[in-house]
This record gives sequence, C-alpha cells and structure tokens, in this order.
Amino acid sequence: MANPIQLKTPFRNYVEQAKPQGAAVPEGLQSLLIALVGTCRTLSDEVAQGALIGILGSAGTGNVQGEVQQKLDVIANDLLIEGVQGCAALAGIASEEIEEPLPVGKGVGDYLLLFDPLDGSSNIDVNVSIGTIFSILQKPNPNTPLTTSDFLQEGRKQVAAGYVVYGPQTTLAITLGDGVDLFTLDAVSGEFLLIKQGIAISASTKEFAINMSNMRHWAAPVKRYVEECLAGVSGPRQKDFNMRWIASMVADVHRVLSRGGIFMYPWDQREPGKPGKLRLMYEANPMSLLVEQAGGQSINGVDAILDLKPHGLHERVSVMLGSAEEVSLLRAYHAQG
Ligand code: AHG
Ligand code: MN
Ligand code: MN
Repeated sequence: MANPIQLKTPFRNYVEQAKPQGAAVPEGLQSLLIALVGTCRTLSDEVAQGALIGILGSAGTGNVQGEVQQKLDVIANDLLIEGVQGCAALAGIASEEIEEPLPVGKGVGDYLLLFDPLDGSSNIDVNVSIGTIFSILQKPNPNTPLTTSDFLQEGRKQVAAGYVVYGPQTTLAITLGDGVDLFTLDAVSGEFLLIKQGIAISASTKEFAINMSNMRHWAAPVKRYVEECLAGVSGPRQKDFNMRWIASMVADVHRVLSRGGIFMYPWDQREPGKPGKLRLMYEANPMSLLVEQAGGQSINGVDAILDLKPHGLHERVSVMLGSAEEVSLLRAYHAQG
C-alpha cells in the first residue's frame, strides 16, 4: 500500500501527498486528476437534481456503438471534456460517446484520458446508481500530434484508473498503481474526502453478479460455473450463493470492491462475432486495474484483461472479475473447454 494518509483528507491534498511506489505524483497528473474529480462533483450535483433540471430521458441521438443516448450520457460527456480542457499535461481524450479521439490543445502533452462518462444509462431514469469510469495512460510520444494508436496500450500501462458512483453517496475509487483508495463526496465542503486506504477484495465469496436472462446464450464454461453456484450447498460447490445484478457495471464493481464477489459480462451467442458487451479501453481496463490492485483477478475467460493488446478504441471484451478463488475457477473451466 502507498504511504498512509490521514482519513478525511480532501482529494486535492491526497494527490499532493500520495507517493505510489515511493515517488510523488507528477504535477501534470495531479492537475488532471483534480480537474477530473472536480468535474465529477459537478456531475454528481446535476444527477441529484434529475427531473428538476430536465436531464432525464432520451437525447434522441445515437452514439458510435449504435446505442441510443440518454440526455445524461451527452451532458456527462460534454461536462467532462470541458472540465479538463485547461490541463496542460493532457494531450487527448477518448470517450464512449465519441468516435475518434479528441486532441486537447495541440494534442501534445504527457497524458491521455479515456472515460465512460455515464455508466449504467438504463438506470438513469429509475434513480438507481450510475457512475463515471476513467483511465489515464501516458502518451507514448508526448511531442508528436495525437493519433488513435497512442491510446491502444495494454491496461497494465495505465498510470491511474478509477470511477465515481452516483448512488446514495457519491463515492470515488482510485488507483495510482499502488493499491485502491476510497473517497466520499462531502456535501458540506464539496470535497471528496478519503474514507479508506488499501481496499482488499476477499479471496472467497458467496455472491455472483451476471445478467441471468442471457443464460441460454452463454458458452459452456460460464453455464457450468453459474449452474454450480445455483446448486448451492448440496451441489459441487457445497455452499449457497447469493445473486445481485444492478446493470450498472460501476455499481456492481463497487459492491465487489466493498464486500467481495464476482461480476461477469461474458461473451454470448446473441452476437457471436462480438467478444462481449463491455468496452475494453474505458470500462474493462480501468475496472481490471482497480480489481487487481485490490488483490482480485480480472480475465476474459482465458487471459488477464490487463495483458490484452487493444486493436480499437471501442473494442469490446468478455469480462469476469472479482474474488480470486472464483475467477481462478472460471479460468480453469475455460481451460477445460
Ligand atoms: P453504458 O450505460 O455505459 O452503455 O454501460 C452499460 C453496461 C454496464 O454498465 C452494465 O453492466 C451492462 O451494460 C448492463 O447490461 P444489461 O442491460 O445487458 O444487463
Ligand atoms: Mn458503461
Ligand atoms: Mn456509458
């Protein structure tokens, strides 16, 4: 774990004090993180106002994935893009909601920011937890103009990753590559205050998360794993499992970080050509870094997600992450075919 920092320290002081792997966070990265997290605070305020400020409902447009955009998908995307424009160290942005990367300034600088501005779009209008997921990479050649291939780096190269969940509380989870720390937004001061350092995911669990309505479409190893969970104490696992599915990855992963569990959105036969539903660069990679940094595992069935070489900004991937014993078992079932 990184150097201990006093609980209730505001996020901006935390980034100044943090020493992941013994060295201070570079100033450019500090400013970027502070601007990003500050914008999530603004977004949190807007989410909390909901219908009062007319932000619910469909935007009537589609995104690059061919998905219908909600008003809040567009609002969150615009707010985040605007909120980091002043960061001199930021060279470019990639988002779920925009097809091509956006250069910031001249497109030169040390860092690249990727995000899912609003995760859990189907939950916006029903007042269920939603969130923002982000990933920060180093730009390979800081002084040359921005290209898409600058972003196509393995997840293990992320210098920071995290999410903000807009739920009963607004909570930030972040890793700078040396453990995972948690913050809660304090409505009084308007600051994210440190509430926990060094989150650890329990190795064993009795809780799984998957969209069960897709069961008939899954591949054999996933079917076997879930059927064995469902068989409970008299089945091969010899224990009863509980199931949860929020349909916001950000909230499901937050539960896994908080009390263990396994979260799966595997490949299925509905669209056999697609490796999965979730996006590698701004959903699976940041969540996988958080999970591994908290002692859990994250795979696509076969390989660690963080080791996958990306081929496209909006590439999809099969995701199985969480408590180490469960993810290892799923990996073994995939290896057996
Ligand atoms: P997004 O709202 O950014 O498009 O992501 C939604 C994702 C993910 O958050 C969630 O786990 C999954 O979609 C839910 O899918 P189902 O509706 O198939 O359950
Ligand atoms: Mn999402
Ligand atoms: Mn989204």
